[in-house]
Amino acid sequence: MAAEPLIGMIGGTGKLGAALARRWAKSGLSVMIGSRDAARAKEAAGALAAEVGRSVASGSNLQAAQAAQLLVVTVPYAAQAATLVEIRAAAAGKVLIDTTVPLMPPKVMRVQLPAEGSAAQRAQQLLGADVSVVSAFHNVAAHKLATDEAVACDVLVFGDDPVARERGVQLARAAGLRGLHGGALANSAAAEALTSVLIFINKTYAVDGAGVAITGALREPHAK
Ligand SMILES: NC(=O)c1ccc[n+]([C@@H]2O[C@H](COP(=O)([O-])OP(=O)(O)OC[C@H]3O[C@@H](n4cnc5c(N)ncnc54)[C@H](OP(=O)(O)O)[C@@H]3O)[C@@H](O)[C@H]2O)c1
Repeated sequence: MAAEPLIGMIGGTGKLGAALARRWAKSGLSVMIGSRDAARAKEAAGALAAEVGRSVASGSNLQAAQAAQLLVVTVPYAAQAATLVEIRAAAAGKVLIDTTVPLMPPKVMRVQLPAEGSAAQRAQQLLGADVSVVSAFHNVAAHKLATDEAVACDVLVFGDDPVARERGVQLARAAGLRGLHGGALANSAAAEALTSVLIFINKTYAVDGAGVAITGALREPHAK
């Protein structure tokens, strides 16, 4: 069986990145925490290492992108383009899972998708065809992932390459959630837009992190 790839967390010191890295490390996967500031990454990796009882690698975002075989980007929308351009060469030939939701403060409860159609398609355009972009985790609240509790939310995973997309489905499972193939990268617009709706629902109904769950009895996927 092939060894599990090292997961490079680009922006791994943040709310979503740290929570995912913690869940993956606790499930036995190897993560490397990346940051704009290698010292900040080292601090976050040290805290995680103390919790999981084994060392956790860290470095700059570029070092994480170079060292890891599988990349996960967890930076704010405003930082997405600059971050992806910085790691573009290191990401070539790899699967990159982008979690970006195109929230444009202050109107975060309003769906505002970029001209490219979605943040995921923007990522693919910025990175070029050498990088297999997958998008996921748009609708799961980081503060819920940061606990050991079950999170009542499905993870919709998008990407034009079904094999790369399956990586995202597996990572959702490793984080303790159900990952579902959601189709082509263009479909990411639906999940990205839904996040603004969920934020609106959180505010309107005083929900602590509303999520999405797909109903129906699902069988093994046969048409991806
Ligand atoms: N939070 C959630 O519940 C949630 C849920 C679903 C999806 N998302 C999406 O996940 C992404 C990350 O969200 P988050 O809440 O984890 O964000 P965050 O904590 O605000 O930021 C994540 C990391 O990005 C880096 N960063 C911040 N500003 C930057 C800048 N101007 N340039 C480059 N890097 C910068 C920082 O790392 P360093 O300072 O160490 O470099 C920071 O720790 C967003 O696109 C968000 O839409 C979030």
